[in-house]
Amino acid sequence: MIARGFPEGFVWGTATAAYQIEGSVNADGRGVSIWDTFAHTPGRTLLGDTGDVANDHYVRFREDVALMADLGVTGYRFSLSWPRIRPNGRTNEQGLDFYRRLADELLAVGITPFATLYHWDLPQELEDAGGWPARDTAYRFADYASVAHDALGDRVHDWITVNEPWCAAFLGYGSGDHAPGVRDSRAAVRAAHHLLLAHGLAAPILRSGEGRVGAAPNLYAVSPASDAPEDLDAARRVDGLQNRFFLDALLKGSYPVDVLEDLEPFGFDEAIQPGDMGVIGGPIDFLGINYYSRHTVSGLPDADGHVATSPFAGASPWPGAEHVAFVHGGRPVTDMGWEIDPEGLHEILTRVAKEYPAVPLYITENGAAYPDELVDGECADPERVAYLEGHLRACHDAISDGVPLKGYFAWSFMDNFEWGWGYGKRFGLVHVDYDTQVRTPKSSARWFGDVARHNGLS
Ligand code: NOJ
Repeated sequence: MIARGFPEGFVWGTATAAYQIEGSVNADGRGVSIWDTFAHTPGRTLLGDTGDVANDHYVRFREDVALMADLGVTGYRFSLSWPRIRPNGRTNEQGLDFYRRLADELLAVGITPFATLYHWDLPQELEDAGGWPARDTAYRFADYASVAHDALGDRVHDWITVNEPWCAAFLGYGSGDHAPGVRDSRAAVRAAHHLLLAHGLAAPILRSGEGRVGAAPNLYAVSPASDAPEDLDAARRVDGLQNRFFLDALLKGSYPVDVLEDLEPFGFDEAIQPGDMGVIGGPIDFLGINYYSRHTVSGLPDADGHVATSPFAGASPWPGAEHVAFVHGGRPVTDMGWEIDPEGLHEILTRVAKEYPAVPLYITENGAAYPDELVDGECADPERVAYLEGHLRACHDAISDGVPLKGYFAWSFMDNFEWGWGYGKRFGLVHVDYDTQVRTPKSSARWFGDVARHNGLS
């Protein structure tokens, strides 16, 4: 019995990203990305893990797609590796061929490809030329988008420009927890603007023909730890930079006035040129939302707390809110230490639908890490099933409330390279043994496949 049915055509997908799964970093003319450099720098990732081999997906993609088809999902969100497609600014047909084959394989089994252009693997030579703090990178991204669209636009119709620009800007250039490992708030705020500009420049290119385009910011529910004015202001700042900054820019073509004020000491306004906001706020076909958790924040001096963004958490990734403490809100946590809060997802979905111009929404990522183990060839992960079920109920509630949610992508299809945490955190529906590359669907994979096949929760 299906107690909670989803609308017809709802996309049930899983998601991954190139550097996290592909491996084959030297194959077929691929260039070097900032994550290659970062992961190979001692002390940047847990145990020195790198994506050199990862899940060997570049070689095993057919097996992986067959497994997806077997589970019964209808969508797959993957990312294109910029340094495979445009190493040193030249187009590499061999790199494009891999994605042509991947898309063909997906289409042959009835899975809709959703391709992300930027999931954090900036070509190293562009970083050497200034990286995202340099405006020119946004124009190089538009070149890359044009090449990708020309080569793949006959097969791929759903495009995501930038994944989690907050992380790319503020973890990459602010706290230094992600590649390229820079700790400079002024660079971080410029990077944030240029990532959005890159989205805006690429969007019309990707929309041509049958293309549909969106971006995938990571949004959080945000609560103040108390009603104290300091806590309310901390919540305003964190909500401002994490959520409203990206939502207002993408959907209204402006930055929130209070966030502009918060970022003024970091020279943010200097990055904005006339016409930029019109470009950034240009037409899109959907908004992707990556949702994992809630931030409970305090601005009181004696508040204690922390949310680690990497095992080597560096400087604060919050320009203008360095004093804010991220405190525990009392909910159970996943293996990342992130609080489980499905109500927060409902809150975000209804808020976006109510406060912003109408646009179809997708959950482009949602999921949980747990320390899964194989026992007698099986992997039982009831906690992940409970996590997914709770969040899918929140999606269903939001749809019942009128939110135009069109699909849900579980993060991740399979365990993979979790950035600074290396292979130490497992987000997959499918277990991966990194010694043998054997894939084993966890109980959550079977459960999610059943939900997809029934188009609803029982
Ligand atoms: C955010 C990122 O987009 C993805 O790459 C990462 O693995 C997951 N969320 C989990 O942290």
